[in-house]
Amino acid sequence: MCGIVGCIVAKGNVAPIIFECLKRLEYRGYDSAGIATIHEGRILVRKDAGKLSEIDAKLDLKGLPGSIGIGHTRWATHGAPSQANAHPHLDGSGTIAVVHNGIIENFMELKRELLELGHTFRSKTDTEVVAHLIQEMMKKGMDILTATAETLRKVKGSYSLAIIHTGTPDRVILARNESPLIIGIGEGFMFAASDAAAFLPYTDKAVYLENGEVAVLKIDEYKIFKIDDLRSVNRSHVVLKWTVEEAQKAGFPHYTLKEIYEQAQTVREALRLQLTYVDLVVELLDRGRDVFLLGAGTSYHACLAGSYIFSKLARLSAYPVIASEFVENYGSSIGVDTVILAVSQSGETIDVLNALEYARLRAATILGLTNVVGSTLTRISRAYVLQNSGPEIGVAATKTFTSQLTALMFLALRLARKRGKVSQAEMDALQEDLSNLPSLVNKVVKDSEPIVKEIAKQLSNAELLLFLGRGISYATALEGRLKVMELSYIPCIAYPAGESKHGPISIIEEGQPVFFVAPRDETRRYIIGNVMEMKARGARAIITCERDDDELQGLADISIPMPPTNPLLSPILYTIPYQLLAYYLALERGNDPDKPRNLAKSVTVL
Ligand code: G6P
Repeated sequence: MCGIVGCIVAKGNVAPIIFECLKRLEYRGYDSAGIATIHEGRILVRKDAGKLSEIDAKLDLKGLPGSIGIGHTRWATHGAPSQANAHPHLDGSGTIAVVHNGIIENFMELKRELLELGHTFRSKTDTEVVAHLIQEMMKKGMDILTATAETLRKVKGSYSLAIIHTGTPDRVILARNESPLIIGIGEGFMFAASDAAAFLPYTDKAVYLENGEVAVLKIDEYKIFKIDDLRSVNRSHVVLKWTVEEAQKAGFPHYTLKEIYEQAQTVREALRLQLTYVDLVVELLDRGRDVFLLGAGTSYHACLAGSYIFSKLARLSAYPVIASEFVENYGSSIGVDTVILAVSQSGETIDVLNALEYARLRAATILGLTNVVGSTLTRISRAYVLQNSGPEIGVAATKTFTSQLTALMFLALRLARKRGKVSQAEMDALQEDLSNLPSLVNKVVKDSEPIVKEIAKQLSNAELLLFLGRGISYATALEGRLKVMELSYIPCIAYPAGESKHGPISIIEEGQPVFFVAPRDETRRYIIGNVMEMKARGARAIITCERDDDELQGLADISIPMPPTNPLLSPILYTIPYQLLAYYLALERGNDPDKPRNLAKSVTVL
């Protein structure tokens, strides 16, 4: 996710202020940080891996001279946390410095072109390419604003950028596409930051940049232009009523709700995987004789859904396994032909690492899908893919789950293509479904919230909740159950719907709420039977199904309508109402949704 800052002060040095701003953005990323200023016609940079205060203790970030500067606090996506990969990044001449939040999708291509032109790079980041491209444009005689706009017309992906150049030491150039960027107007101070929390102690006057815009920030003015044609945009400021903490939560009352809402963007970022690494993982998956998908908690549910996806799309049997059960269950058959794709948001869950260590000593191939570059999982994996969700602060995993599913889908599609298991037409259709996914996610969050809020009111005193799904929806039922249980503390059961008649049906009495996950797939006609069986015994059926599925809607005591979607993508969309339900049940019952009791974000004990 990363946090960026740009700042100009009328008097004194800017670095101590940038440092304070960055501290308030540390929740967006904290594996490296840095500041660059312009002083006496030169750019000065101090940066390193580690936490902001540690870097300051070592390098005296606050001591940088100069009245104009930019700063960054990083959540690594391209290149591990290190001094070289920390921002700000410079161009070849050392006169342009850039900080960036987002992902430049086509950076490899652009880097290749720049290498041919003789540029050399110091980092493994996508960001450095932007600095060098601007330099290239300026060589052609463009000013810094025109060169930035021209550069961004070549760039694909998401970005918020703050740029300084020694030739124009009175201004910071800003640009935005998909990643947030806000200007703050103070008396004797001008700011730009990833969120207003950074500058709120100095000013409450804010101007929001929109996608596709570039801006020039000076001590006494700001000017906004369209990247496309540099036509100017008029936008006046708004006055923010937020506290710093509210701004960090983007106005949401809790991080959990903010993170549920963020999913349209995080799913989009999860589709921006680096193909080189994806293809390496795919190649190694393809070579395995026994393939396991291994994870704990929510990540295990992603593995379970992933196993259906790999099987259906790529005809790969990938066995989902709970990390803490792996050694006992499969340990004796592990060998050089075993491939394990470990899914772990943190990359540090001890149950996962233990299983992998065991497998590694037996020469198995370890692959990873994680959200944290530099985590133990990235270090012990032969190859890994990053899900690009940014830090998740709510203890219950929400956005990181839907990103894991998106990344697994992406991997399965690439493998299917490699194996020649899908036709061109199917491939095109799936690609299109994937590109529509972020807007569908957005729609589901917005449309289901009021319905789910009402359900939470009705169920706030429930003593037991049951979740049923068939096929891939069994994974959704498990994840729905886990979310609701961990945030509401209501005992919950999830079962494959087909198994419900082999036991769970005995607990059904008049009014017992039962959630059915029922997308339109080949299991639908069976789940209709399961709904009838449960209703005949008095169950109250709460059915998540397609909005035009009249039959299921007709059977539901309450329905949560969903847009039509490819069944393999259904766990991504159908989990969202249960995330919201968990959140609103927690509120109804007086629980803190961000910090459920007894749970930890990352469990590092056995
Ligand atoms: C803890 C967290 C869960 C998470 C699980 C696995 O139990 O509370 O939200 O799903 O660990 O974490 P990982 O980082 O390996 O995905």
